Amino acid sequence: MTLHASPPRPTQPAITLHAAWVEAAQALAVARLDHGHGCASAEEEAAWLVLHAAGLPATEADRFDVHALQPLNAQQLQQVRAITAQRIATRQPLAYLLGEAWLVGLRFTVDPRVIVPRSFIAELLDQGALDSWLLVPPQHILDMCTGSGCLAILAALAWQDAQVDAADLSLDALAVAQINRADYVLQKRMQLIASDLWSAFAAHPANGYDLVLCNPPYVPAASMQTLPQEYRHEPTLALAGGADGMELVRRFLRDAPPHLAPHGVIVLEVGNERAAFEAAFPQLPAVWLDTELHSEAVCLLLADDLRAVFAPGATA
Ligand SMILES: C[S@@+](CC[C@H](N)C(=O)[O-])C[C@H]1O[C@@H](n2cnc3c(N)ncnc32)[C@H](O)[C@@H]1O
Repeated sequence: MTLHASPPRPTQPAITLHAAWVEAAQALAVARLDHGHGCASAEEEAAWLVLHAAGLPATEADRFDVHALQPLNAQQLQQVRAITAQRIATRQPLAYLLGEAWLVGLRFTVDPRVIVPRSFIAELLDQGALDSWLLVPPQHILDMCTGSGCLAILAALAWQDAQVDAADLSLDALAVAQINRADYVLQKRMQLIASDLWSAFAAHPANGYDLVLCNPPYVPAASMQTLPQEYRHEPTLALAGGADGMELVRRFLRDAPPHLAPHGVIVLEVGNERAAFEAAFPQLPAVWLDTELHSEAVCLLLADDLRAVFAPGATA
């Protein structure tokens, strides 16, 4: 009798992307998670997760249909199920579980050393919405409170001739920003600076910054107490803004004028805290910039106005 080894069977697709997406979306929806970290729903998170497992960028979610019938192999399916279970059990933002975040179509490496990128300023940079406020294309840009470096990188991509400084108090955050800077090959144009707000900025740069971006920690103390669990995985340093949310903002704006070019502009994010901002700076003219999801989250401040309000002897 002759024994024949059975021929290798072709690997059967374990499941399609669509089926994996339905399964993950249902599990995430039932768990009633918070989706404030770059996704608006369980469905969006599930699409990102499934695409990630398939080796596709999250931006493909816009045309998920094209990939819907593509197979996920057993290992990829196992990854989707494991991360779904981890997301539900730990309430960690999906970005941390995948080691990446997507902002205006760009990928950034993230981990719990940095807040998950979701700044409203990103959209303004991506759409060129600041151009009309700038006298000339900015040569010297600062991203204060840079975290993962996402806004500094978007600014460097928006203005290809600019030098961009990116500052943060957290050395951990700067280590992540360094990874992202290398990913976008911006080592020559983007400098990372360890600084408590302006403290390391004695005379930097010589003529002052044309544009300063800042998405500071601005969550008021009371709100810090009631944050959904997802936010508790993020660095407190990145969120906590003191009693009224304006603790960092006060120091940042008060000390800004000497570092600004004569025509300089600050673009500051305060999220839902417009009322607290206006209470803290009743004399300071601010232009509120519309974004797709919020019309009062980001304001624009002019150097001349800051100088007038924060001149020695003036009251803010
Ligand atoms: C809301 S996060 C913004 C991060 C990033 N710009 C973004 O939009 O994703 C605020 C950042 O401010 C940093 N930070 C907190 N206190 C600071 C201080 N005194 N000086 C400089 N950076 C500070 C935190 O480490 C954190 O990375």
